[in-house]
Amino acid sequence: MKHLISLHDLEMNDFRQIFGLSAKLKKELKKGIRHDHLKGMTLGMIFTKSSTRTRVSFETGMYQLGGYPLFLSSADIQLGRGESIYDTAKVLSRYINGIMIRTYDHNDVIQLAEYGTIPVINGLTDLLHPCQILADLFTVLEHKGGLKGLRLAYVGDGNNVANSLLHGCARLGMDIAVASPAGYGCSEAVIKEAEDDAAAMGSRILVTEYPEEAVAGADVVYTDTWVSMGQEEEKKKRLEVFKPFQVNSRLFEMAGKEAVFLHCLPAYRGFEVTADIIDGPRSLVFDEAENRLHVQKAVMAILMGNQDFSGETADI
Ligand code: CP
Ligand code: NVA
Repeated sequence: MKHLISLHDLEMNDFRQIFGLSAKLKKELKKGIRHDHLKGMTLGMIFTKSSTRTRVSFETGMYQLGGYPLFLSSADIQLGRGESIYDTAKVLSRYINGIMIRTYDHNDVIQLAEYGTIPVINGLTDLLHPCQILADLFTVLEHKGGLKGLRLAYVGDGNNVANSLLHGCARLGMDIAVASPAGYGCSEAVIKEAEDDAAAMGSRILVTEYPEEAVAGADVVYTDTWVSMGQEEEKKKRLEVFKPFQVNSRLFEMAGKEAVFLHCLPAYRGFEVTADIIDGPRSLVFDEAENRLHVQKAVMAILMGNQDFSGETADI
């Protein structure tokens, strides 16, 4: 693993190592044990979109690992004025030890990795959100004790979060069902990749327009905003189209008895999810948000550090 751009690129051993190290770093942090795995190193964090969790968890995580996080808003760096990805990648590679980027076009992230000589971490593109889904699956692993064979239902927009869920679940042998309105489904290319991985792992992928079909018997119910960053102009239409896809008590009751609820946040109560569900006893959303910190620290330590973490493996 040289970069973290898509979960489709990760092997089972990469997931095991990330989750094993995440658990160790989480425990150490709670006990006040220092872990300076990235001492003297710098992470550049490029943002062309807003963020609360991604920015704060990467920035804090880098600090806790003994390194230095550099916040690079596109409003302030020359990339925002038209400097090429090529030159940006070449120049940043001379100064810093890793790049985390949140942007629109997924190809920009791929190019940054191709032209630069340092690890690149995808902090969300229009296509994928791999860091989020690593934290989500780590959260499920903590609460359920295993992942293989579980069924996750995603209800809502076939967006970056849904695409990475397809990748992650399929790679790890989880069943995943995605329910979206016609015309708002996941990337066809991602569905194909997930179907191939699921076939190899003996798990199932279901793509449907019926939320009830997706949720039936699920162990995890997941949703995300109906209006992602960059889609603000479509808001009115989207709120109408997605109405039947709300996660509320009627829908949630169709899931398994022990089902948990996840949402990457930010959430819009009364739209994609009702308050009784997201603030209810089955919701893990704040554990999930916290785990962004631990999981991304593990990813940074593995990609950027000089230590061998191959012994830190979690059972999945
Ligand atoms: N879930 C997530 O990525 O949140 P932010 O947009 O606040 O970073
Ligand atoms: N799908 C959302 C996720 C935010 C973390 C968006 O892209 O805006």
